[in-house]
Amino acid sequence: MDESTQTDHFGAAAPRRVPTAGPDDACVQAAAHFARSAFAGFRGSHAWDHTHRVCRLCERIGTAEGADMTVLRSAAFLHDIGRMAQDESAGGVCHAERGEQLARPLVDAFALSPDRRENILHCIRSHRFRGEHPPQTVEARVLFDADKLDAIGAVGVARAFLFAGEVGARLHAPDIRPEESQPYTENDTGYREFRLKLSRVRERMLTAEGRRLAEERHRFMTRFFERFLDEYDGNQ
Ligand SMILES: [Fe+2]
Ligand SMILES: [Fe+2]
Repeated sequence: MDESTQTDHFGAAAPRRVPTAGPDDACVQAAAHFARSAFAGFRGSHAWDHTHRVCRLCERIGTAEGADMTVLRSAAFLHDIGRMAQDESAGGVCHAERGEQLARPLVDAFALSPDRRENILHCIRSHRFRGEHPPQTVEARVLFDADKLDAIGAVGVARAFLFAGEVGARLHAPDIRPEESQPYTENDTGYREFRLKLSRVRERMLTAEGRRLAEERHRFMTRFFERFLDEYDGNQ
């Protein structure tokens, strides 16, 4: 996308930041363009606006951490391009690994050093981090934190219920313990997501700024679900 269009990477008017023009910026622009086309038809909980928010958080945390912002911005745009494969396989395919595969031909053509190109791919592959592929560079740690932050707090609550609706889950499933319920079923509720995943996210943050933001979001999210259960039972 040309800067003369007066839009940002996301096609929105009135950009908050206009990247400096140059070879590095061309990589970021190419990553943004490639990623946006990969999100056509995505469901709301993992749509293009999630990538948008992750990019904004990467700007904030990456600046504080002294990250290579070209690597970080490129990886942030590309990090979830494998998501469709994971959704279509009901979780059977890891979208981080698929995303790296999909991004490699594009990133290999970037006019960057081999180390920087490999770092972009490492960021994509490690952003999910569940046992394998831990984030090993500052850029990967920043992307990991930014992505996790978008899963908690007020946005995290909203996304959890949006995802539950997408898979046909109920509002709440008080008759089954979250630990005994299955993903992608009617019991894959927002509260289940909170109990099994979101309540543990703050413990996994890898940067100082990420930890600080996660603490605030965790407190809000916990208060929300306490209130939710009280209201569900008619106690409020
Ligand atoms: Fe992801
Ligand atoms: Fe993501």
